[in-house]
Amino acid sequence: MRQDWRGLPVTTGRAETVEAIDRFTAEFLGYGQEAGVIVPAASADPGCALAQTLAGALHLFLENAEAPRLAAPFLAAAESGAADVTAREREHLAAARAWAAGDTATAAERYAAVARAHPRDLLAAKFAQYHFFNLGRLDEHLAVAEIAAAANGDVAWSHGMLAFGLEQCHRLPEAERAGRRAVEMMADEPWAHHAVAHVMETQGRLDEGIAWLEGFAPLWQRCNSFMLTHNWWHLALFRIDREEPGAALDIYDRHVWGVWKQYSQDQVNAASLLWRLELRGADVGERWRDLADHVEARGAEHVEPFLDLHYVYALARGERREAFATFMESLRRYAVAAPPRWREVALPAAEGVVAHAQGDMRGAFAKLDPLAARWGEIGGSHAQRDLFVQTWLDAALRSGQGNAVRRVLEARAAARPAISVHRRQLAEGSLRS
Ligand SMILES: [Fe+2]
Repeated sequence: MRQDWRGLPVTTGRAETVEAIDRFTAEFLGYGQEAGVIVPAASADPGCALAQTLAGALHLFLENAEAPRLAAPFLAAAESGAADVTAREREHLAAARAWAAGDTATAAERYAAVARAHPRDLLAAKFAQYHFFNLGRLDEHLAVAEIAAAANGDVAWSHGMLAFGLEQCHRLPEAERAGRRAVEMMADEPWAHHAVAHVMETQGRLDEGIAWLEGFAPLWQRCNSFMLTHNWWHLALFRIDREEPGAALDIYDRHVWGVWKQYSQDQVNAASLLWRLELRGADVGERWRDLADHVEARGAEHVEPFLDLHYVYALARGERREAFATFMESLRRYAVAAPPRWREVALPAAEGVVAHAQGDMRGAFAKLDPLAARWGEIGGSHAQRDLFVQTWLDAALRSGQGNAVRRVLEARAAARPAISVHRRQLAEGSLRS
């Protein structure tokens, strides 16, 4: 029995395995590129159930149809040694097994249980946050971060986790304080850069947001593709809201699309950016084509509703008629037996965004309008999901139904007065109704 960097027992006789678990933890919490260190460490120490479990979990973060198959041998190896490990290690395994089986609600709850019983286990807290975030269970996403931050106040990452949890629960001043605290402790804390950017985005602080993110951008070069492309995506959002589509497209070309074109989150960041640019009337040229090539190569998979909506929009805008027809057919079949959010939200949302992508604004509005109160269930952050609200508003305005969304337009203009598109949309809605 040895101890990791937080003093938590790890069942192994090998010091190198614990070093690899510590390194994996640092890379994972810090969004580095070397989280894969856990895979050879697990292979070198087949008797360490925790190393096996974490290697399995890392594969699940691939967020593709292959991930459970790749994770399976590691989770099976962990299972065979699970009789002689601690309760914490057994719970990690149970959570990862639920996750591999597609039961992400159970995974979230079991990781949260580990974090409550062992508050110094930052990985359990981070994994629980990931799942609660995808499920739209944001109070629990925050609660687990509060536990982690209280027990790990000396670790900058814990304040970054707390900052994002607070932001997602609309506690913006506290979120900004926690994020700035993380950055004061460790400038190279990209998740805290990100959390504070969310606050500035929500409050429409465009110039501050650009200055904040540009100041840290050189540090993201060491980050994994999700964090690198996502923080640049946030910078592009500020540029779009400042009516600078050329600058946003430049960010797309240089930093958002092209890092790891096969990865789910890279594809989502790219699709979201092109989609938002087109909603503002920008010409994105031929850019959908390459993105659609890579989305099409995934085949039809249904890992998270939030991902599917981006995939299907990219296929439709890339004019892959056969691929998106196949994808929609597969989604319809999957939604029948999947948890209700797939059938009641993801499927009509997919039909709605495809209608929008094809220029059928009346059809898009009819599908998206009933979902106004349910977007939280598909996962993603408020800033990310705002894309679907923007699409719904665009469909309303372009089909002459501006009156139906006038109150929402007014609220958006009041909440972020610095952003001129809201005033333009209000004027447009008034003219047409
Ligand atoms: Fe974000």
